[in-house]
Amino acid sequence: MRAAYLREMGLWPLWRLRQGQAAGSAQGTQPQAVPLPAGEGASPADGGGAEIARLDWAALKERVTACTACPLHQTRTQAVFGVGDEAAQWLFVGEAPGAEEDARGEPFVGQAGKLLDNMLASIGLGRGDNVYIANVLKCRPPGNRNPHPDEVRRCEPYLARQIELIRPRLIVTLGKFAAQTLLGKEATIASLRGTVHDYRGIPLIVSYHPAYLLRNLPDKAKAWEDLCLARQTMAERQGTEAR
Ligand code: URA
Repeated sequence: MRAAYLREMGLWPLWRLRQGQAAGSAQGTQPQAVPLPAGEGASPADGGGAEIARLDWAALKERVTACTACPLHQTRTQAVFGVGDEAAQWLFVGEAPGAEEDARGEPFVGQAGKLLDNMLASIGLGRGDNVYIANVLKCRPPGNRNPHPDEVRRCEPYLARQIELIRPRLIVTLGKFAAQTLLGKEATIASLRGTVHDYRGIPLIVSYHPAYLLRNLPDKAKAWEDLCLARQTMAERQGTEAR
């Protein structure tokens, strides 16, 4: 079964880590504290951030559903809040809903979502089972264009609050926008991969966006390395907390 998922990801035959060799060890896996720039995160310029930071799940969902903080609300079918186990240990963060997500109201349900499901299955995970999936932007940018900085700034407090409520043990960012938003810095995926970053005390691992992987098949092998690093980091965290 697992072989089928890996084959679907273009990753079969399977690579195995040698005993004692950490995925990404060549680039170092020490957690790195990367604080958000002062004034960013849960305190956007529109002044709603502090209030959002106090909302419970139901109020947060209502707020996102009715959000008109940026022009994307004019072109969306619906806001796409996020899906999964609200007490999940794993959080995967993408960029923004596409056409299918906008129509169905759930993240990652199109082609990229199929690949994400296979990526999850390859490390023994499943959507909704100890996994939560969210996006940086809750509304679809028209034509799937890149998010604008102002849209990210206005929407980011929702994601920050989701993370506070979930309190995941590990975050995996998918693509440049999720990584840059949560790490609060501009950098390439290539430069951020292979290291365990820190988002407010939560380990964060950077990987490619599944839609990118669908267009760049050779990089699926790198995504597999990222998943191995994520799995190893989670195992280490679970071991530490069990002690
Ligand atoms: N791409 C994303 O980043 N998120 C989705 O929900 C779908 C596609």
